[in-house]
Amino acid sequence: MRTLKAAVAAIALTLAIFGAANAATDDVKARYMKAIPTAAKPCLACHGAKISPEVAAKLDDIYPEDKARGYGAGDIRGAFTIRQPM
Ligand code: HEC
Repeated sequence: MRTLKAAVAAIALTLAIFGAANAATDDVKARYMKAIPTAAKPCLACHGAKISPEVAAKLDDIYPEDKARGYGAGDIRGAFTIRQPM
């Protein structure tokens, strides 16, 4: 699992670098991307596989549509991206 996570992180970084280069030549924009990893704390308290009953009950109450659970530490959830015209 560690190896898979490292591979995903490497691919995300490669895509970020490619995206930056692509944006610089095509759109004349600088583009910055940063992966959003799931940290053991605090993220897994709400997004992990084992959520405390109190937190689970509150999440069910406030966010009944929430499906963002069952993740592990280091899982990539997406990326922040910023584009800056040059
Ligand atoms: C207190 C509980 C809580 C904590 C702690 C928390 N989240 Fe969330 N997060 C939620 C809830 C609830 C939603 C869904 C919100 C909605 O449906 O509008 C959500 C949504 C998200 C989403 C968008 C939905 C998706 O699955 O793509 C991402 C990404 C996310 N959280 C990442 C993180 C990351 C990374 C951390 C840690 C830095 C974190 N969250 C910490 C409760 C939490």
